[in-house]
This record gives sequence, C-alpha cells and structure tokens, in this order.
Amino acid sequence: MKAENSIFSPGQYDRTRAPIEEAYSLPPDVYTSREWYDREIETIFRKKWLQATREEEIPNPGDYIRIDIVGEPLIILRDLNGTIRALSASCRHRGSELVAGKGNCKLLKCPYHAWSYTLEGELKAAPSMEDAKGFDKSDYSLPSIRAETWGGFVFINFDQSAISLIESLGDLPERFERYDLKNMKVTKKWENRFNANWKIWVENSREGYHVRTVHRESLDTYYPGATNSKFFAKGMDGVYEINSSDNENGLYVPRNKTLPFVEGISDEDKEHTHFLIYYPHLLMNIPPDRITFHQYFPEGPDWTRIVTWCCFPQSTIDRDDFEAEAEDKYYPPMELFIEEDKGICELVQRGIMGRMAKSGRYCPTEEQTVHKFAGYVLDQVLGPASQPV
Ligand code: FES
Ligand SMILES: [Fe+2]
Repeated sequence: MKAENSIFSPGQYDRTRAPIEEAYSLPPDVYTSREWYDREIETIFRKKWLQATREEEIPNPGDYIRIDIVGEPLIILRDLNGTIRALSASCRHRGSELVAGKGNCKLLKCPYHAWSYTLEGELKAAPSMEDAKGFDKSDYSLPSIRAETWGGFVFINFDQSAISLIESLGDLPERFERYDLKNMKVTKKWENRFNANWKIWVENSREGYHVRTVHRESLDTYYPGATNSKFFAKGMDGVYEINSSDNENGLYVPRNKTLPFVEGISDEDKEHTHFLIYYPHLLMNIPPDRITFHQYFPEGPDWTRIVTWCCFPQSTIDRDDFEAEAEDKYYPPMELFIEEDKGICELVQRGIMGRMAKSGRYCPTEEQTVHKFAGYVLDQVLGPASQPV
C-alpha cells in the first residue's frame, strides 16, 4: 500500500482536527484496525502514566496485587520498607507467572522451580544452578517500571524517561486538594469486559449528549427531576475537568441521600459533580460525597476491560448505616449506568464494523471533549498536525 493511502497518512485526518463546527469524527478504521491499535499501545499506553490501583489495596509491607496492563503481566507491591514498586510478573528462569491475585509475602517465589526474588526484584535464590557457567544472580533481576502515587492512586509508567507523575498532573492535585482524595477508601469495585474499542468508552463517558436517552431509566429511577447536565471543560488538555450541575448536587447524588458530603468542600462543589479526564486512562467522577472512577485496559482493537471503583471518605465508611445505605442508594445506580453504557458502546462497535460506516459530525455544544480527545489520539499516534509520520 502506498504511504499516502495508509491509515497513518496524516492528511486524511485534517478534517477531524478542524474547528468543531466543521470537524468530522474519527473514521471507523481507527476503532477497528489492528495496525492502528498497535500504534496506540506504543505511542500512548507505553508512554503515559496509567493508573494501576489504589494504595489501600496494598496497605502493608509485603502486600502485592497482580495486574495485566496492555498485555504486560505486572506485580504491584509494597516492599518491606513501604516503597510501592511495579515489577514484571515473569520469572527470569523460564518465564512462569510468579504470583496470581492478591496476597502478602516476604519473597516472590516461583511456583515452577522455586527461584526466589526479593520485593525489590533481585534474584535471591536459584536452586541447583551451581554448574551453570557464568551464571550470576545479579544479572537476573525482575525488570521494573516506574510507580508513583498521588491522592491514594498508584500509577505506573513503562517509559523510564517520562516526566514525573506529579508534573503530568498539572494543577489537578491543587484543584482537588479539598476533597482529600488520599483519605478516601475503596468500598466497591466492578469489572466488566466490553466488546468495543477503548476510545468508544472514553468518548461516551465524557459527553452529556447521550445522558437523556441512554440513561433514561437510571435517571427516572434514581435521579427524578434532573433537568440540566451541561458539561463544560476547564483545565489543561488531557487533564481537564468537566462540570455537571442539575442544581441538585450534580448527577451523582441520590435524591434521598443520607451519607454526608466531604467536609471542607465549597458551596459550589456541593452542587456539582466534577468529571475529570486524565489521559489516557483515568476517568474520575467527583460528586460532593465520594469518588468513583473508571480504568480501562485495551485488550485488542475491539475489546476493553473496564474496572469501576467507588471510594468514600473513611469518616463516612465508619458510620453504622454506611453499608446498608451504600448498597441501597449508591451502588445500584452505578451498576445500571455501567450496564446502559456497556450496551451503547457495543452498539457503536457493531455499527462501525462494516465498510459503509463513515465519519460523522460532532455536536458543537455537547461534544467538545470528544473532539479534543480525537485530537489527542491523532497527536500521539501521528504526531502534531501537518507533520509527516
Ligand atoms: S520458571 Fe520460575 S523457577 Fe523455573
Ligand atoms: Fe453514560
């Protein structure tokens, strides 16, 4: 195929990068092509900070959790000195996965032939290897990648030369300091696999255009009277905030709510849900009483694993009525929202599989965030506008 006809030929995306009033959406190919997907993994997911877990998932020295991120088996752990690390989960002998699930240990001992590693990843014991010529245990440490934290979130980065996590977050930590995110604790997690490209999920979750139609049932059931969910974006690209207000504590607070708001937030915060995007991988919703967030893990061009988390302040969790209230009023709407969004994302993926699917147009008042996101993907995969690849 000639370069100018390739999916990576930049000229064909000029009309997506045009001002939103004139812009066309990303062409269907970029949601279905393996080639394009592989390039996204290299230029986005292997370069950017990705949220891996929360600190309270590994609170004690020796705690670990096994996660696959973009096809890479990782162990996220807290070493015996309390430092959080991200190590390869593949044994340096013949590659076995070292641990599964969650747990606590002092050494990572391979279940196959018992090679054992410290929690810093150094090979400490390799039984019966005396006759292996030139074998030096120090050459067989587990590869590690960067792990840094903010607000109780643990992030990893495959790129050793990336800027620090804090730098990449811009003014986000300052803007949300009053919510004391570090002291929120996970109370519930949901895991789903969607038969849709990861970008479809991001696009769907950051616009309010679909809320009145796709979420009709959950709105009528849990948030009757919600009238306005205008989204507006502020902050730097890639780390921005979209606020929604329907004058009733945002979209996410049950009408008959009983659990308290976070202490110290402003009157404005009490009427809003802040929807944060931290590209490429973290979508966070901050109503006045808790945080919920989604991580999505691309698993091929048309599959995405989504983990949804709900965290409340410790003082709320300590209330006698917490569990009953959360189960009754707070978790069910989230479950219904996920179900509704899953359905619509899969519908989009099915719709764009055929050759007759074409780029559409953006709604200028409702889809600025979708348009910005398309620009971000193009910038990463192809380089900035008008640059040959
Ligand atoms: S594969 Fe791990 S010790 Fe053999
Ligand atoms: Fe939705």
